[in-house]
Parts: sequence; structure tokens; C-alpha cells
Amino acid sequence: MAIKDLIKMNNKKTNFIFVGGKGGVGKTTISAATALWMAKSGKKTLIISTDPAHSLSDSFGMKIGHVPTKIIENLYAVEIDPEKAVEEYKEKLKSQMDMTQGMGLDLLEEEMDLASMSPGIDEAAAFDQFIRYMTTNEYDVVIFDTAPTGHTLRLLSFPDIMDSWVGKMIKLRKQLQAMTKMFKKILPFTSDENDEDKALENLEKTKKQIMKARKIMSDPERTSFKMVVIPEEMSIYESERAIKALKKYDIPVDNIVVNQVLPKKDDCEFCKARRRIQNERLKEIEEKFKDKKISKVPLLKKEARGIKTLEKIAEMLYGQPKAS
Ligand SMILES: Nc1ncnc2c1ncn2[C@@H]1O[C@H](COP(=O)(O)OP(=O)(O)OP(=O)(O)O)[C@@H](O)[C@H]1O
Ligand SMILES: [Mg+2]
Repeated sequence: MAIKDLIKMNNKKTNFIFVGGKGGVGKTTISAATALWMAKSGKKTLIISTDPAHSLSDSFGMKIGHVPTKIIENLYAVEIDPEKAVEEYKEKLKSQMDMTQGMGLDLLEEEMDLASMSPGIDEAAAFDQFIRYMTTNEYDVVIFDTAPTGHTLRLLSFPDIMDSWVGKMIKLRKQLQAMTKMFKKILPFTSDENDEDKALENLEKTKKQIMKARKIMSDPERTSFKMVVIPEEMSIYESERAIKALKKYDIPVDNIVVNQVLPKKDDCEFCKARRRIQNERLKEIEEKFKDKKISKVPLLKKEARGIKTLEKIAEMLYGQPKAS
């Protein structure tokens, strides 16, 4: 398979691949295998785990940190550390929200109220990291190994939540700016106007970045969403619901990876019975997702860990990597 069959590669810009699905179906495995294949095809690739319960380190069999860690030539990986993300986010907020002295108390209170209406700081911090990597241009391909469905949908709905919140903050800032100017005439010790301008500028910058990420996420030329399913009812239903929800955010799912498909060659009674059920589910998958590309990965005898095994899975999915 050529890369352009896997994603509609826009060679001039960074391309994004999201890998989602129900808990435990093989998201990390498929993301890691895809990332290795991309790197071997000559693309500078970054794989990011947005799941607080990380397992990229286990999958690759090496320690991965909060900043990009080199795995092999062309491949880097990140496991976002929630505590470090909050620290970094607080630093950023400090410059954005720097409370100015001398502003109207009621307005200050209103601003605080809005702040408490904001998403939780840990979620906002995770989102901030997400936006950071969504707007990077350091890599050819960025792959997101996402958390199970619910968590991911929440993360993907964030551009809207944050956008409206940042929008409100900007409006309030502007009102404050006008107030400060007025105060300044009567009270010479009020805040420095430049600080206010800087805070507004930072908020506007955040808003622009969110809009940019939102646009990239719904651009099929640059973003591909892969849904990993296993041939079981619960996984199929959850993925079906997730696909509908993603559609609302204009994020189209173009590929279904059916993982852990039982091999045909085992003849034991138990295997035959299991396979009969799986065949039913496979038919259901082909019917339900007929407008998408469906790929299959067999259930391996051992756990799908380590670079060698992941490379084998990638070859089953995409064939031999060719530099392009
Ligand atoms: N095709 C396969 N054959 C054998 N084992 C597999 C296969 N795919 C995944 N596994 C194993 O199943 C387990 C779960 O896989 P993985 O961690 O990739 O799932 P996940 O969807 O990322 O889970 P989580 O929702 O917890 O993040 C791992 O131990 C992995 O090695
Ligand atoms: Mg995982």
C-alpha cells in the first residue's frame, strides 16, 4: 500500500491520524504499528498518547516521556504527563489572565465566575497540549493514540467548548480595557495598559489556534480517523455511536480496522464455535461500515508488543513500507 492510500497525504503540510475505539480493542497497537510504518516509509512521524493511562512505552518496549522521545530513525513518541501539562498550562494562563490591579471589583468577580465555568484545569491543560501538537509543523505525520471513545469525544468537542469560553474572556477583557482607560484618567495608579493589550493578544492567539486545529481536524486532505473494532457486538455498537458523534464535529472516519480476527486454520471445537460468532460479526461490520475502508488484523498467538511484532502487524495492514 502506498501512503496516499492510507492518508490523502498533503506533502507540504503536517498530516494527522487519529486512532480511536472502545477500551482494550487495540488502539495503541494499531497506532504504534502505523507510526512505525510511516517512519519506515521515510516520513518524519510523531506518535502521541492522549490517554492518561499510557501504554505506548509498553507497546514499544521503551521509556517514553512528556517530550518527544526518539524511537527509531524518523519516529518520535510522546506520552503527555497530566501533571506537567497542568504546570505548563498554569504558566501560560498566568500571562493570559494576569489580573490587573485597580479594575472594577464587580468585573473582576465576573471574570472569576467565567473562569470557574471553564473546563477543569486538567482537561484544559490536556487540550492545550493537544492543540500544540495539532498546530505543529515539525513533522510529516502526527498520530494520536487516543483514550477510549467517551474520553476522546470529549477531547474532540473541546474546540467548541474552549472557543466559546475564550470568546467570552475576550469580550470581558475588551470591556475591562475600556474601564481601565476610564479609571486611568481618575486614578493614575491603575494597571499598565500594555499588560492588558498583551493579555488580549494572547487570548486572541489561543482562539486562532483553536480555530486552526478545528479546521485541520475536519479536512480529509490532512486528517484521517481510524476506528479500531473487534468482531464483538459491544465494540461494533460503541464505534457506530462514536462515528455518528464524530460526524457532528465534521470529523469523518475513513477506515475501520478490525482487530483480533481469529485465524481460520485452528480446528478445535471451541475455535470453530468462536469463529462462527466472529463471522456473523464480521458480516455485520461489513454491512454497517460499507462506505469505509475495512482492514483486518488477526489475533496473534502472543501479545502484540515490541517493535518487531508491531512491524509485522503494520505489514499485514499496509504491506511493505516504501520510501516515498
Ligand atoms: N491482534 C492482536 N493479537 C494479539 N494481541 C493483541 C492484538 N491487538 C492487541 N493485542 C493485545 O491486546 C492488549 C490491548 O491492546 P492495546 O493496548 O493496543 O488496546 P487499547 O485499545 O489501546 O487499550 P486501552 O483502551 O486500554 O488504551 C495488549 O496487551 C495488546 O498487546
Ligand atoms: Mg491504549
